[in-house]
Amino acid sequence: MKILYLSSEVQGLLKTGGLADVSRALPAELVNKGHDIRIVMPCYRSLLEKDFPVVLPTLIVPMTPTENEYCTVRVTEISGVTVYLLEHHKYFSRHGVYDDGVTGYIDNGQRFAFLSKAGLELAKAIGFQPDILHTSDWQTGLAAYYLRAHYGYTDYFAKTASVHTVHNGSYQGQTSGALWYQLGLTEDLMRPEMLEDYGQINLLKAGIRFADKVNAVSPGYRDELLDIPTSHGLNQMYYSRGEDFVGLLNGCDYGEWNPETDPHIAQNYSADDLAGKAACKMALQKELGLTVSDQIPMFANISRLTSQKGYDQLIPALQRIARDGVQIVLLGSGDPHYAHQLEELAHQHPETVRFIYGYSEPLSHKIEAAADYYLMPSVFEPCGLNQIYSLRYGAVPIVRRTGGLAGTVVPLNDDESNLQQATGLHVISTHPDELTQLIERAIWIWYHSKASFLALQQNGMAARFTWDQAANDYLALYQSALDARRTT
Ligand code: ADP
Ligand code: GLC
Repeated sequence: MKILYLSSEVQGLLKTGGLADVSRALPAELVNKGHDIRIVMPCYRSLLEKDFPVVLPTLIVPMTPTENEYCTVRVTEISGVTVYLLEHHKYFSRHGVYDDGVTGYIDNGQRFAFLSKAGLELAKAIGFQPDILHTSDWQTGLAAYYLRAHYGYTDYFAKTASVHTVHNGSYQGQTSGALWYQLGLTEDLMRPEMLEDYGQINLLKAGIRFADKVNAVSPGYRDELLDIPTSHGLNQMYYSRGEDFVGLLNGCDYGEWNPETDPHIAQNYSADDLAGKAACKMALQKELGLTVSDQIPMFANISRLTSQKGYDQLIPALQRIARDGVQIVLLGSGDPHYAHQLEELAHQHPETVRFIYGYSEPLSHKIEAAADYYLMPSVFEPCGLNQIYSLRYGAVPIVRRTGGLAGTVVPLNDDESNLQQATGLHVISTHPDELTQLIERAIWIWYHSKASFLALQQNGMAARFTWDQAANDYLALYQSALDARRTT
């Protein structure tokens, strides 16, 4: 198949979260399987500095019947996949990606409408006639509408079907309702069952409403999106898609995340020989100025600092368990409100807690390799990748039973009767007391039930969520989108 893959971020080029990991690994796996896939993304300022070769000096993008935008197209390759970068200085050459660090850019509607339309124009300009247009989240949702309303009527795109993936339904790209004409929309879309959202335009709705098939990044999250309290307000939209809306679990890039070969960590290790893991823990303790000993359990967390990740529960729980005999290492960037609370926690417990504000891929690998337990009590989690990396690294995940966390971690029973299968521990509520009790249990297991802890580690290290499988699921979805398109 020929697949046009539009994404606002791709790991290795620009990453703010798991969308980037998926936008790199899924296309790479599809290329491995013999498909022709091209990625289109913005040429952000940091990419402009790399001076990738120009393939098209000028691409003309008609945004409205009377106005064009223009960009230069550069090209690079990542994991064997061709990536086209749209160089549009006014829209993309700025400090942030989606926001200035605090608030979203006021022209995000225009910026990502441009990406959505330019992707289609570029395909035509370079003679790449896609079978499938694959889009993700609010940033490229409009492309599904443009294909349906503007391009699908041309011979070139007459057979192209679309798939829209919801990685995170809480970000919806709300944009001023006054912009409908500028975004190439018609006024009849300003209805709640279309793109209207309390007077604004909701870009995610465009993907949900107009793609031939829609998927959430785990079966559990799909079910949550159909349920009013967990749908981020869009349950009617999802519900209206009936069987066209499915859940497909992400994979993990085990080439990147493998403790047996990881070049970032102090010593490689495997499930059969965990001595290297103890060495990794001691190396990190040394690096961070903590007591160096493999006789202390280490809890870790690496994340965007946002309420989604459960910091309102995690911080109070950590305040209660931060004491001698436990070490806590946190890496994250984002909401200054949480950063401040975590700095305070580290300040109050200089012997046991380290908080590193920032974004560092090498450090994230070192932390996964060092940790005994990985904390991820998200309020909601569409799929989650860090718990999957943690399983592979023997950092036993402590999660909340939601979305992809519920689908990837097998929780240990109270009576440990499922010790042969269990890979982690879970809480059900979002109450800090429940999380505190669970962490207390984790500490107890680590000190007093070494065999149970080892079983959890080794079961998790043996679990696999491969992109081979996930890519096959996407191929089946692409095929069903093509079949649906043929019959409409
Ligand atoms: P989300 O996409 O909601 O942020 P995921 O678990 O799907 O959550 O993916 C997050 C990705 O971003 C993981 O690869 C994780 O390691 C990475 N990440 C998040 N914050 C940081 C950070 N501060 N430093 C390094 N990597 C980070
Ligand atoms: C989103 C979700 C996360 C998911 C990632 C990749 O950012 O928050 O749960 O793993 O997308 O699909």
